[in-house]
Amino acid sequence: MKIPLKTLKSGFSLPVYGLGTWEMGGRMEPDYSKDEAQIQAIKNAIEHGITHIDTAEMYGAGHAEELIAEAIKVYDRSKLFITSKVIGFNQSYENVLHSCEESLKRLGTEYLDLYLLHRFPDPGLDIKETMRAMDKLVADGKVKHIGVSNFTVPRLKAAQECTTNKIVCNQVHYSLEYREIVEKGVLEYCQENDIFIVAWGPLSKGALEDAEILHKMAEKYHKTPYQVALNWVLAQKNVITIPKTTSLEHLKENLGSIGWEMDPDDIDKLTKEFPNQKVVSNRVPLDYPASMEA
Ligand SMILES: NC(=O)c1ccc[n+]([C@@H]2O[C@H](COP(=O)([O-])OP(=O)(O)OC[C@H]3O[C@@H](n4cnc5c(N)ncnc54)[C@H](OP(=O)(O)O)[C@@H]3O)[C@@H](O)[C@H]2O)c1
Repeated sequence: MKIPLKTLKSGFSLPVYGLGTWEMGGRMEPDYSKDEAQIQAIKNAIEHGITHIDTAEMYGAGHAEELIAEAIKVYDRSKLFITSKVIGFNQSYENVLHSCEESLKRLGTEYLDLYLLHRFPDPGLDIKETMRAMDKLVADGKVKHIGVSNFTVPRLKAAQECTTNKIVCNQVHYSLEYREIVEKGVLEYCQENDIFIVAWGPLSKGALEDAEILHKMAEKYHKTPYQVALNWVLAQKNVITIPKTTSLEHLKENLGSIGWEMDPDDIDKLTKEFPNQKVVSNRVPLDYPASMEA
């Protein structure tokens, strides 16, 4: 299927649905035991129209990037959109350049479409130097666009002040259950300042399965609860998402979240009435220690 795009006022576009790769190729260490199935899962995603693939140097300590390289080599690179990320402790000027080179080698590509700061630079590192390196990567053609991940508004403003390249996205935890970016004004700021929110963790597994309101909406629209949950995320201005799945069945189900609309009243109802909403992420709370306070 053709995945629809969202476009910022600046003209920068992203497909509304991309593929996440956390836990492909291991967690913090490489795991080679499921390579074949995971390469096939990435190919399945591309065969189903997905062009945006999200990864990071951290995922499987680089092995997720190697799996992507293997999966994409039979496809036209120019039709894909590949995002990777540099971890907080690698954000000195030299280390950003080095990390990017290593990601490019593992991915078997000459450029990244989007390169993100996975978090704000670790304590002791200087955001000016981090962004100077990001600018050099853009100037050298190794990175087409830059963005950030898990940034509060003050940290996002501080990063943007250090560069003339536009920060095109903030990749953050966001789902019906996790609302920290709403609570901290990140969603509103990005919507008002022409920045994409790339929602990670949109499926929030157990909570979605248990919520009665979601089952009722699913029944009303003849969809599954996961399709409703993803549709709710995508109904919001400037928000796109990158669910991870290695299952073909889940992939097909998730893609069924696209191409239809809920009534605004139902979106509003889900926003307000989804049970047990959390205003702090259980995985990356936005006030993590970094070289600037959150
Ligand atoms: N920037 C950051 O700090 C950060 C943090 C976390 C994640 N991310 C990115 O965001 C992506 C998505 O986040 P995530 O992987 O943590 O969470 P997620 O996409 O919300 O959930 C993934 C989990 O849901 C399962 N799943 C997928 N579709 C399903 C369906 N239709 N029914 C039932 N289960 C389903 C997957 O298992 P199966 O594989 O078996 O389908 C997997 O266990 C990551 O892969 C990564 O690229 C970024």
